[in-house]
Amino acid sequence: MSLLITKSHRWLSVPIGIQLLIWLGTGLYLSLFSNDGPALKIQKPQGIEWQVYAGKLYPVNQLPVKKAESIQTVLLAGKPVYEVILYSQPHNYQPRQVRLFDAVSGQPFSIDKQWAKAIALERYSGDAALSKIELEQSSGGLLPKQKNAYWSAYFDDSALTYIHIDQQSGRFLTASDEHRRFVALMFKLHFMDYWDTGSFNHPLLIIVAVLALAFGLSGLAWLIMLLKAGRFTVRLGALHKIDVLVANNNQNVTVQGRKNTTLLTTLTQNQLQLPAKCGGGGTCGTCRFYTQSSLPAQPAETHLISHSELAAGCRLACQHAAHSVDSIIVKDMATQALTLQVSRAQYITPTIKEIAFKVTGGNLQKFNAGSSMQFSIPGGKRRTVPVDIPSRWRSYWAQFDAQTVSYKSTTRSYSIANYSGECDELIFTIKWQCNTTTQKSGGAGSSYLCSLAPGESVEAYGPFASFAERAYQPGAKVLIGGGSGIAPLRALIYEALIQNSVSHQMIFIYGARNEEDLCYSDEFEHLAKRFENFTYLPTLSSPSPAWQGHSGYVQQLTRQHLNFDVFNSANFYLCGPAPMLAEVKSLLLSQHIEPQQIYIDSFNTNEVKNESNS
Ligand code: FES
Repeated sequence: MSLLITKSHRWLSVPIGIQLLIWLGTGLYLSLFSNDGPALKIQKPQGIEWQVYAGKLYPVNQLPVKKAESIQTVLLAGKPVYEVILYSQPHNYQPRQVRLFDAVSGQPFSIDKQWAKAIALERYSGDAALSKIELEQSSGGLLPKQKNAYWSAYFDDSALTYIHIDQQSGRFLTASDEHRRFVALMFKLHFMDYWDTGSFNHPLLIIVAVLALAFGLSGLAWLIMLLKAGRFTVRLGALHKIDVLVANNNQNVTVQGRKNTTLLTTLTQNQLQLPAKCGGGGTCGTCRFYTQSSLPAQPAETHLISHSELAAGCRLACQHAAHSVDSIIVKDMATQALTLQVSRAQYITPTIKEIAFKVTGGNLQKFNAGSSMQFSIPGGKRRTVPVDIPSRWRSYWAQFDAQTVSYKSTTRSYSIANYSGECDELIFTIKWQCNTTTQKSGGAGSSYLCSLAPGESVEAYGPFASFAERAYQPGAKVLIGGGSGIAPLRALIYEALIQNSVSHQMIFIYGARNEEDLCYSDEFEHLAKRFENFTYLPTLSSPSPAWQGHSGYVQQLTRQHLNFDVFNSANFYLCGPAPMLAEVKSLLLSQHIEPQQIYIDSFNTNEVKNESNS
C-alpha cells in the first residue's frame, strides 16, 4: 500500500508539476503584462446619409431568395447591401449561410479581395499600409474556432495589426496584433484549452483537477506515513558549525549540528555518511575521523584505535558530540545516496535471506571485496517474524512469538557478498533478527530489508571499504566466519580465486548451527575441488545424526585443525557473531599471531548484539 501511495505521488507529480509551472508562468504574465500592449488601431465605420437612397433601394420582396431567417440592410465600406441570413447559430464563429445583394441594383454580391481590402481599410485607424490580405479557410489560421471562411488583412505597423472579415457577410469579425495574439496564447495555456473549445469545462481541465486531487491526497498520506515512521523530528538546541574535509574526493563541506547530538548523527543528518557498521554502538571502529582538537579518547576508542592513530587525532564520530569539534577530516565518506532496487530475493537458510539489488539511482563506484553498504532504514511498524519463509522452514519460526513492532528510522550496514567484477548486482546475505524485550531495536534493519519485494527500492550509501581496505593483503589467508558473516568472506574468496587467480593457500573455516544453516555450501565445495590451494572446512554446533563433517564451534575447529606453525605468517579474516570474534581473536593471539595480521569485520552493536551480517 505504501509503495502504491509513494509511486502514485511521484508519477502524479510529473503532469501536475508541469501544469503548475504553466499556470504559474502564464498567470504571472497575464496579471503583470497582459494590459501593457499598444492600443488597438481600430475604429468604427463611418455612417452615410441614408436619405440619398430614398426611393432608390431595390424591393426586398423581389430578391431571388425563397426562405430566409432574416434580411437586413447593412453598410459595407459605404455601400448599402442586403444581408440575407439563410442559416445561423448563436455565435458568429459557428457555421452559417449568408448571401449578399446590392441594395440598389438587387444583384448578388460577394466579398472578394478588393471588397475585403476596402472594409479592412475602413476599420483600420493607423497610418500604415496594408501589407497582405489573404483568405483563410475555416478551422485554420489565426481564428482556430472560426467555422466560416474569412479574410485576414495585415498592416505594416509596429504592432503588426491585423483584421479579420467574414467572407460571406463582409462583417468585421475581430482585430488583433502581436501582443494580443501572445496574450491569447497565454490564456489558452492557462485554461488548458488546447483544443480551442472556448469553455472552462472541457474534459482535460476536469481530468487534471481529479489528478491534482489524487496528488494532494497521496502526498498527505505519504506525509502521515513519514510522520508515523519518525522521519520528521523537532530538534532543539543551538547550532554548531563544523568544517569537514572529505579526503576521498577532496571536498570541503560545512555542516551544522545540534548540541548533544553525536558527530556521527550530525553528519548523517547533513547527508554525509561515514561508514558505521555497528550503527553508532562504539564497537566496530569504522566511523573514524581526524581532528586537531584535543579530544579526550573514550574507552571505545582506546579499545578500537591504535596508540599511533589516537596520537594522530583519530577518533570515532559516534563517541563525540557535534559541538566538541570545529573542523574534522574524514577519509572514507559517501556524500550521495544510491537507490537500490531489489532484483531478486530468496531465503538460503531458515534465517538468512540472499537479496540482490540493482543500482537504479546514483553512480556505483568500483569496489573491493569486503566492502559494505549503509542502508537508510525508514521507521514504521513491522512484524517480528518473516511471512514469506519457505514452507520447509516454517517450523523454525513457529517457536517465535509473532508481533508487530514500531521501529524508528535508523541506518544499518551490511557487507556485500560479491566482488565488483562478479555481476552488476550488489548481493547481501541478511539474517532476520528477532526483536526481543531486551533488544528493542533488534531487527530494525533486517525486518525491513528482508520484507522488500522485487521491484521495491531502498536508499543506501557506499560502498565503504573500511574492512576491504585493511583486509586486502597478499599471502596465505585464513578466513573464519559464522552465520551471515559469510558475506565479506565469500566476496574475498571469489575475488582472490576467480578474479585474481592467487596461488597462495586459502582456508575457509565456517560455522553454522546445523546443515540447514550452512550458506553457499555447494559453491565452496565446488571451489575446493576446482582450486587446489583452497580448503573449505564447515563445522556445525548442532548437527543432525547424519552429519559426517566437523562438529563444534569454529574456534574449536580452528584450534584443532589449523597448523599454526605453517600459517604463522598468514593473514586472518574474521566475520561473525561477537562472541565468536572475541574467542577466535584471543585464540589467534595466544598462538602468537600478530594483531596486525588479524582483520575483523565487526557489525555488532551494543544495542543490537546480533544485528547485521553476524
Ligand atoms: S559506528 Fe562508531 S564505532 Fe561503530
